[in-house]
Parts: sequence; C-alpha cells; structure tokens
Amino acid sequence: MVINVPSVKFRDYQVDAVSSFVSEDPSFAPPNVVIQGHHSSGKTLTMRKFFEYNPQIYNCWLNPIELVSWKPLLQHVARMISSTLANLFPDISCEEQDALEAEDFYLLIKFLHAVLRSYQLLEKDISLFVVFDGFDQLQELDSELLPKFIKLHELLPPNLRVQLKFIYIVHDTAFLSRYSTYNLPTIIFPRYKHEQVAEILLQKKVSEYIESEKLLCKVVSCGLDPEDSTFEQIAENYIKIIIQAFHSYTGNDIVALGDLMDSKWESYVQSITAENINEPLSLYRSNIDLYTTTGDTFVAEEEACVETGDSERATAYELSCISKFLLIAAYLCSYLEPRYDSKIFSKKSHLRAGRSSYGRRAKMETNPRYLQPSLFPLERLFSIFQAIFPVEEQENHSIFHHTEPMRANVEVYENLAELNSLKLITTATPKNVDYLSYKLKWKVNVPWEIITELASSVNFDIADYFSGLHY
Ligand SMILES: Nc1ncnc2c1ncn2[C@@H]1O[C@H](COP(=O)(O)OP(=O)(O)O)[C@@H](O)[C@H]1O
Ligand SMILES: [Mg+2]
Repeated sequence: MVINVPSVKFRDYQVDAVSSFVSEDPSFAPPNVVIQGHHSSGKTLTMRKFFEYNPQIYNCWLNPIELVSWKPLLQHVARMISSTLANLFPDISCEEQDALEAEDFYLLIKFLHAVLRSYQLLEKDISLFVVFDGFDQLQELDSELLPKFIKLHELLPPNLRVQLKFIYIVHDTAFLSRYSTYNLPTIIFPRYKHEQVAEILLQKKVSEYIESEKLLCKVVSCGLDPEDSTFEQIAENYIKIIIQAFHSYTGNDIVALGDLMDSKWESYVQSITAENINEPLSLYRSNIDLYTTTGDTFVAEEEACVETGDSERATAYELSCISKFLLIAAYLCSYLEPRYDSKIFSKKSHLRAGRSSYGRRAKMETNPRYLQPSLFPLERLFSIFQAIFPVEEQENHSIFHHTEPMRANVEVYENLAELNSLKLITTATPKNVDYLSYKLKWKVNVPWEIITELASSVNFDIADYFSGLHY
C-alpha cells in the first residue's frame, strides 16, 4: 500500500494531510473528510493531482453546483457510484438498478445496499472515494444535507467489501462551523499570499505565453530574431505588471488574474515593435492603457461600437418612467431638507409669497450632495414624486395619460418595490421589515452622476434644485 505524494506548489502540508486520510484500505480511511479553502486556493487541483498520482485509489467526482437540489444530487450519487464500480470491475455482474429511483435518502441507502452487495465477491476490501467538489454550492443547500451524508456509512452494513468514503470540498467557513461538533477531519487550504500567487502565475503562464502563436507572428512580422530569453523576459514582465496593476481588485484570485492576463495579452503583443522589444520600460509606456482599466464595459461589445455616437442610449437605464421619477424624488428627499419642501415643490407658492413663505434661507456650507443621504419617510417620497411627475397638458383620451397629479397607486408601489429589490432605494433596517410601516425610513442609494444622467433621460433638470444652496 504505497501512496504517491504529488508536489503542488505551496500545498505540501495539505498534500501530506490528504495522503494520510485517503487510503486504498478502508480501515485506514475515515468515512468523511472535509477540505475547506477559498476560491482558487488549489483544492480541486490538489485533489485531482493526488488521485492522478494514485490510480489505485478509486474515486468519483460530483459537482453539486450543477445539480441544483437534493433529488438530483442523490440520484447522481447513486448513478456515479454504480457506474464507477461497473467500470472498475466489469467481470462482476451486478443486477440492474435504476439510479433515478434514489429520490430520497432511504431510497439511496436501499439502492447502494443493493449495488454494493453484488461486489461481495471481491477478494479484498476497497474504498471508493466520492468527492463533492463544492458541496456548499448546491443551490438548495440546507443544514440537513451534510449530516445525512456524514451518517451514511452507519446505515450500510459494516462488512461490505466496497466501502464508501466521502470527501466534501467547501469554501464557506460559516457553513462548516455548524457541524463543528461532528469532529470531521478537516484540511484547510489557506489563501495564497501575494508572492505565492505571483510565483504560481509565472510558472503557469510564462511557458504558455512564450509559445503563443500571436507573439511568434508579431516577431516574425517585425523581422526580428530575438533570443529565447527575450521572449521569457517579455512574458514575465507582462505577468508581473498585470498582477501589480490588478491585484487590488482581484485579491489573490489566481483565476481572475489569469483571465485578465489572457484577455490583454493580444493587445500587449500588438504593441511590440523592433525598438521596444528589448526595452521593458518603453514597452510598458506604449500600452499603459492596459493596466489602468479592466477593459470591461457594461454593454456588449458590438452594441458599444454601434452606439458610440449615442452615449445616452447605451446607458439609458432599463427603468420605467415612474421608476425614474421615483428615484429622482428619492434623491431629492435624501439630499434636500424637508423644511423647504413646501416652498420648492408647492404649486401654490403664490399664496404666501416672499420671505414669509420659507423664512431666511441660510446658505449651506457644503453642498448637500457631498453628504450622506439622509433618511426620509415614504410619505414624503410620494408627495415629492407627485409634485415632480409631469402632468400631461393636452387633451388625450389614452388611459396612459394623466391629467391629474400622479397618485401613489398600485403601479407606483410596484415600481418602488422594484427599485428596492434593485437596491437603488433602500430601507434603514436591513431585513424582514414591513415595507409599508410608517416607522420605516428610506434612503436613496444612487450617486449624483447616475441621477443626473437618469434625470436628463426624462428631461428633468435636477441640478436646478441644488443650485443656490451653497457657496
Ligand atoms: N499551487 C498551485 N500551483 C499551480 N497552480 C495552481 C495552484 N493553486 C491553484 N492553481 C491554479 O489556480 C486555479 C484554481 O485552482 P483550483 O484548484 O481550481 O481552486 P479551487 O478548487 O480551490 O477553487 C487552477 O487553474 C489551478 O491550476
Ligand atoms: Mg474547485
């Protein structure tokens, strides 16, 4: 029983731990092992490599994220186990079982029992490892599921030749801490450090980039004949710069950094010329744009090309007219003081003209827009909304035209609910609230840049409301 220990960069301890828990002989392997670590901390890589180096240890893999809910997960476990065993031991005839019948846990046990019984003819005990890669990513995950699997070995007869062992790969520590009393053997994959990420990426990407066809084409088209080390230098510099430029956005996420590199590599290669190929600094300067933006847009690329002249369209938020005015009203509520409301929004201000209508209005020291949004009650929002929502002047018999001020009708509430679910307008209490309660306070969650753009799309001059308020 020899176990080969693969080498994975910066994961020596984890590989060692895995090799002491995962064994061909079921009497040496615990029934459940948990592997915990953040995204792209090398969990999948390490486990895959381990099993690759140890083909004598039987295993099968499941991706719970693809399986959505309990039922398909259980059925898939059943199917995986029976088909893996059938492939491993084609000589042993196993009575046909329908994996789709394993709709519930007791049915899964029944199924497994029937399948595993056929393998009693084997000469020695074997373990079969079932790896759940991303157990906590199952969409309909609940707290019952893991304990059921943890206890599964207790429900199967102990004298079976084939013994099932489960490996759960999870990233959520909160999920795991619920089961701390089960004392499951847990192998932690800590996050990589910055230097480790750089080293892994350099090791992984340099060779890939040196051999990239684009680089070769470019060099040939420039009529250059550089040495291999120049290529290596170019690729290495590129990787290092990208990591430095984007590390603050991606954190130590190898996958994200790798994707960024891949997406910009072509443009980087394009800027190579005969002059700058040996001068990293001028090469860096010639494509500095690559490092200052991610190159992402909010619209699909073709659209962006078509609509370059029409910037308004590209950012016209997919909101209804009512929503837009609600949002504008919410912005005004959050940034204007309530005591001036009657002056600013009343259509009957001529009744009390002059200073008596609003008192002396002291100039504010800072523009209110620079402050935190203040909270407001729903009632105020609806009043301001009513005041600013445009009333159609001309006679029109369509039901969609308003001749009276807009009231807070069902449609308005619907739009408000949508804005709330889009988190454009939020409540002061985060969760489980009665939205219509008079005590509840609201605030807007949109910056000035967006609200002006949005207001201009409905021809509403919001800047006017903020002029003359401050020095
Ligand atoms: N120690 C390492 N050495 C080389 N590549 C690594 C290492 N750790 C992670 N990677 C790479 O990072 C990516 C993400 O790793 P992965 O194992 O899928 O992470 P996880 O399963 O923890 O989310 C993979 O492309 C993998 O090749
Ligand atoms: Mg993974």
